[in-house]
Amino acid sequence: MKSLKMFTIKTYNNISEKGLLRFPESDFKIDAEATDADAIMLRSFKMHEEPLADSIKAVGRAGAGVNNIPVDAMSEKGIVVFNAPGANANAVKELVIAGMLIACRNIAQAWQYTTELTGDDAEITKAVEAGKKKYVGYELPGRTLGVIGLGAIGVQIANAADALGMNVIGFDPTITVKSAWQLSSSVHEVESAGELFKQADFVTFHVPLIDSTRNLLNTESIATMKDGSVILNFARDGIVDDTAILAAINSGKIHSYVCDFPSNELKGHPNVVTLPHLGASTGEAEDNCAIMIADQLTDFLHNGNIRNSVNFPNIKLPRTGAKRLAIANRNMPDMLASVSHVLGQAKMNIKHMVNDSRGDLAYTLIDIESEPSADVVKNISQIDGVLSVRVI
Ligand code: MLT
Repeated sequence: MKSLKMFTIKTYNNISEKGLLRFPESDFKIDAEATDADAIMLRSFKMHEEPLADSIKAVGRAGAGVNNIPVDAMSEKGIVVFNAPGANANAVKELVIAGMLIACRNIAQAWQYTTELTGDDAEITKAVEAGKKKYVGYELPGRTLGVIGLGAIGVQIANAADALGMNVIGFDPTITVKSAWQLSSSVHEVESAGELFKQADFVTFHVPLIDSTRNLLNTESIATMKDGSVILNFARDGIVDDTAILAAINSGKIHSYVCDFPSNELKGHPNVVTLPHLGASTGEAEDNCAIMIADQLTDFLHNGNIRNSVNFPNIKLPRTGAKRLAIANRNMPDMLASVSHVLGQAKMNIKHMVNDSRGDLAYTLIDIESEPSADVVKNISQIDGVLSVRVI
């Protein structure tokens, strides 16, 4: 039988051992087959069709994008969904820089050329000289990189490109204060994606795939770009319209497309370099993501604190009472009064409390002096708008 304090983490995908070791063995069990887990930890496993146990309180995505998780359905059940922003940013940054170099030095085509050389070494040497002329490239300093999306990844790329001597422009209408602080002062903000497309020699995308970013780069936007531009997409499939980019490459408008999302349509085109979703595929990034998620889940399961959630507000309250109530609820009037009323009726004193909201959702931590009765918990759960209640 599970001890009262034992938590089970169900894993999907291979999760880095370094991350899993962060869960204290004394009160955490890792079990890929668990049917009554407290939390799920996963990478890119698609959860949309997966049955969800009633026992699940949190889902931790060891990565940045959460499009493999039905976040709205989780929110309805008061389940907190976490991600690991920034934990794989260096890995993506390095591949984007590599992608720019692959494109501007014609590396993929030139490499292909040498793999197809035939004849004796003297003939190969002669062909090398011909290839040298054929694959003349250009350098990065002085060229303009446009970064769409200045979150943890976009900021690192912008700063690295700046350090390489590029002019860097960025567009992000929802840039956070933290990102703005981290961004090199030489990076210039533009007013719109359209403005960025017009000015950039290289464009790289670092936004999630949502309605407003689907086919963000399309026939119309490509038409406004400089001739010979390079497009990089290490964010999500669907942000760049494949048919439009192929037409633009074939017409000579776009120099090349480097991305993490192969398809039959893109396959085999000499100016398209596709990789098998390698952006964050480094041992270091996998470790960093798993460590970050393990720490966030541990603090959430132990204390109810929330850091880096994609659906609930960040919240932290130092433990002050013997017990804590962690309540996820809809962001609507009278919630706190209703909860306080239940506690008051049970003659329970609130020692400390914190509440915050995010969009339609809110979350409250309440420290109390003693274990609440099952009736108190039931009465709070039954308040209209309460999505989940935990006693920790
Ligand atoms: C991410 O969203 O973190 C990256 O696309 C990498 C991954 O899917 O694991």
